Amino acid sequence: MIPVTEWMMGAGHEQVVFVADAPTGLRAVIAVHSTALGPALGGVRFWHYEREDDAVRDVLRLSEAMTWKAAAAGLDQGGGKVVVLVDDPDATREPAMLHALGRAIDELGGRYLAAEDVGATQRDMDLIAEVTPWVTGVDPADGGSGDPSPVTAFGVVAAMRAVLARLDGDDRLAGRRVAVQGTGHVGSRLVALLAGAGASVVVADTNEARAGEVAAAHGADVVGADAILEQPCDVLSPCALGGVIDDVTVERLRCRAVCGAANNQLAREGIDDRLHERGILYAPDFVANAGGIINIAEEFVGYDHDRALARTEKIRESMARVFALATEQGVAPGRAALALARARVEAEGRGRWRPGDPTAWSNGDPLTSLRPPR
Ligand code: NAI
Repeated sequence: MIPVTEWMMGAGHEQVVFVADAPTGLRAVIAVHSTALGPALGGVRFWHYEREDDAVRDVLRLSEAMTWKAAAAGLDQGGGKVVVLVDDPDATREPAMLHALGRAIDELGGRYLAAEDVGATQRDMDLIAEVTPWVTGVDPADGGSGDPSPVTAFGVVAAMRAVLARLDGDDRLAGRRVAVQGTGHVGSRLVALLAGAGASVVVADTNEARAGEVAAAHGADVVGADAILEQPCDVLSPCALGGVIDDVTVERLRCRAVCGAANNQLAREGIDDRLHERGILYAPDFVANAGGIINIAEEFVGYDHDRALARTEKIRESMARVFALATEQGVAPGRAALALARARVEAEGRGRWRPGDPTAWSNGDPLTSLRPPR
């Protein structure tokens, strides 16, 4: 068993709640890393873990990462996460089990706000929402923000403009070559935006039919999934899984910059330094892909798509600040991004958020419920 409270002390977690509900078979861990900037927002992950320790490690790491992501995105939100230990993440879940999870979330009184993550569906969120108001990602008809992917893709483009401005003092996408790995929810939208802006795009997906369809729709080139990382290009955009840039692949890259939506693109921390040494500009993933969480946070003040896009556009400024600090301090951008996020929590943090405070998590607008009545 990993030493949980020792880990919490070291990483600054406020609270970890182990949940078991025998009648429904629910086994879950809720981790609230920080509520210094506001209630902890983060996804519910349904996953099959070989060992319980793996689940605990996952929730501790992921909840901390959410704190830095929200802080870097300028949101008045803290970081949290839930992992639910299931045998088959793809199996349809029993409402009773989701209600038990919802009750556990409800008991935290808003300190943790649930969102969709790996394995979760809108149906899951709708069922959780039957027993607690502290849940996002519900049906748009009920004030939910819907699929975040288009906004995430929009944010990646904003980040890419900051990258191009940094590289060449010119943020135009026209005539640039961009390699997109993964043509799923985010990747396909990204390809559309890039092609629309006049970029020359090359794509790959392990699902070749999907890659072909997206390429045909937007005039992009297609290469095999094993060749995309080595494409000569201005920007490589990982939009598939995490860990794609490791000790081996980092030496093979032929891009000038890396900027994509995938979480945890670098297999380990030092890879950032190696990219820096190789003269490849890395746009930290948790800054570039914040459009999704910015979109969700809009639910709290009454969802408005245009406002979500306007706030997401600011990723460009955040990314420019990251690059400026990295240059000033002579460090890799990932380290600079983390330093900026930590500094914001330090400077603006108001301690532990307590249930009942209606103003601390709404970008300044007073609220009395998670989603205002429409
Ligand atoms: P998705 O599951 O819709 O798309 C991922 C695509 O990558 C799939 O088409 C899959 O076949 C493909 N793929 C998997 N392995 C591959 C490989 N080795 N080479 C090429 N293609 C491969 O996922 P989605 O929603 O588009 O998310 C993409 C990434 O962005 C994920 O890492 C996700 O965590 C991250 N992200 C997504 C957000 C969102 O709004 N959907 C928000 C923030 C991050």
